Amino acid sequence: NQQQRSIIAIDGPAGAGKSTLAARIASRFNLLNLETGAMYRAFALKAIENGVSPEDAAGLEALAASSSIRLEASPDGNRVYLDGVEVTSRLRDNSVTDAASKVSVHPAIRKWMVRLQRELGENGRIVMEGRDIGTAVFPDADVKIFLDADPVVRSQRRYEQIEAAPAAPIAAAESVLREMRERDQRDRTRALSPLQPAADAVVIDSTSLTLDQVIARVEEIIRERLGLA
Ligand code: DC
Repeated sequence: NQQQRSIIAIDGPAGAGKSTLAARIASRFNLLNLETGAMYRAFALKAIENGVSPEDAAGLEALAASSSIRLEASPDGNRVYLDGVEVTSRLRDNSVTDAASKVSVHPAIRKWMVRLQRELGENGRIVMEGRDIGTAVFPDADVKIFLDADPVVRSQRRYEQIEAAPAAPIAAAESVLREMRERDQRDRTRALSPLQPAADAVVIDSTSLTLDQVIARVEEIIRERLGLA
């Protein structure tokens, strides 16, 4: 039955190729694609704009209580609304990327986000992409993929993305690698839902795979598990 609830969880570190994979899988199987990282980024933007430090747990919690974050799937990617205003184009700044990794450490913020993400996805046919979808948001997801890759390869991919952006900031490849390692370390060692594969996730290392190979592999897994054509 194509209409029943289907949840595909795609987790992994930055630069492993999750976003592109999730977008392709969503269009292939007609699922909504929801990028949870964008929600942490929107909240990080709000903290920056309000002068709340990403280390200030109580300040962030109070800020969260008066924040509304909405994610909308659209054909050209997710649109993110912060307090009713679209902020999608502002979420890729380096300052936001750094703050998102820091605000996402706090348990109260994670609990709030997990609740929002469950509301978004629970009745749907979705691909949800993030760090803790298979472990915390939807531990009962129908398919769980953990996409990983060597950090040097991931930072190279991220660097190429930054360079290709319309208003490319001048970035040094080494600083992209260094900052990525710092965020990885923070994501993997935080107390609540650290970045790690769920016990029942299929782990795919994309270091020496092309994107098309990864997609083919995941399509096969989804067809098998969900009995989709
Ligand atoms: O995927 P991304 O780079 O847009 O995510 C931004 C930050 O948000 C990342 O440093 C970790 C955090 N994040 C998280 O903790 N849990 C998620 N499900 C998604 C993102």
